[in-house]
Amino acid sequence: MLESRQIFEKEAKNKMLFSNIKVDPSISPFIKNRLDIISSSKDYSELLKKIKKENIYTDRFKVEYLILDGDTRGNTERLEKSRDVGFCIEAEPDYYTPTVIYSICNFNEVWYFGILLKNNPEWQKHKKKPCSFSNSINMEIAKTLVSISSKGNKSRQLLDACCGVGTVLLEACFSGFDIEGCEINWKNYYHTKDNLVHFEYTAKVHCLDIKDLDKNYDAAIIDLPYNLRSYSDDSITLNIIQSTARLANRIVIVSISDIEPIIKKSELQISDYCIVEKKGKSKFKRIIWVCEKRIPI
Ligand SMILES: C[S@@+](CC[C@H](N)C(=O)[O-])C[C@H]1O[C@@H](n2cnc3c(N)ncnc32)[C@H](O)[C@@H]1O
Repeated sequence: MLESRQIFEKEAKNKMLFSNIKVDPSISPFIKNRLDIISSSKDYSELLKKIKKENIYTDRFKVEYLILDGDTRGNTERLEKSRDVGFCIEAEPDYYTPTVIYSICNFNEVWYFGILLKNNPEWQKHKKKPCSFSNSINMEIAKTLVSISSKGNKSRQLLDACCGVGTVLLEACFSGFDIEGCEINWKNYYHTKDNLVHFEYTAKVHCLDIKDLDKNYDAAIIDLPYNLRSYSDDSITLNIIQSTARLANRIVIVSISDIEPIIKKSELQISDYCIVEKKGKSKFKRIIWVCEKRIPI
C-alpha cells in the first residue's frame, strides 16, 4: 500500500487500480501486470466491434485472458473470449514467442481490452547472489525501496547511502535504474562489487563514510545500521541521515526501531511510512519512512 500511495498517489483496491501513471511492472515486487487499455465496453459484442475497428496488424501476437478479483468465469469461457479477441486481430499469432500480448478482462461488469505488460520474474535470480548479509533486507523490500524512492520514474538518479552487500543496488540495476552505492566498510564494499559483477551490472560504488560523499541525487535510500539503541547510536543515526540529506531531497529510510524523534531533529519531514513485520515466530520488524527535505519558510 505504501508503494501504491507513493507511485500512484492512491491505494490499490481489490488488488488493482486505474491510473494514468505508467510504470514498468518489473520495478515492483507487488505489481503483477499492467494493462494499457485500448478499448472498453459494458457490452461484450460491442467490445469486439471496437477491437476490429482498431485495425491491429501486429504479427506474432498472443491473447491472454486476465483474471481480476471478482471475475468467476471458468477456463472454457475465458479461452473462448481469448479466441474471439484473437479473431478480431488481422495478424499472425504466435503463442510461444509473442512480441505483444493483448488481453481481455472484466471488472465490475465492464469489458476491457488492451496491451498486457507482465512483471519479469527474472529478478528472483538475485536470491542466489554470491555474497549475503545476515539479517539483510529481503529482495522484495529492496525492490520496493527502489520503486518508492524513485516513484517509479527511471530517469531519477538514486543513491543507496549504506549499501551493505548491495541488495538494493541489484534490484535497481535489474530494473534499469541509474543508482550508485556508498559503503563505509571495505569488506561489504567488495561484497557489493562481487555481487554486481556476478550479475554483470555496472553501478558505481563509493567506499566512503556517507559524510564524505559529495554528489547530488534525486532520491536516496538508507538501510540504517542495526542495533541502534544507546544515545551515542542515535547520534550516529542522525549523522547518517543528515549527511544523506545534503545529497538528496527525497530519502527513504529503513530502521528496525522507531526513529521518528531522530528524523524530526534533521531537516527532513516524514511524508509517509509503513511497518513490515517479519513472518514467523520472531517479532523482528522494520519501519520504512518516506521523507522529504523541509522547505524553509
Ligand atoms: C543494515 S546494513 C545495509 C544492508 C544492505 N541494505 C544490504 O542489504 O546489504 C547498513 C550498512 O551501513 C554501513 N554504514 C554504517 N555507517 C555508514 C556510513 N557512515 N557511511 C556509509 N555506510 C555506512 C554498514 O557498514 C552496513 O554495511
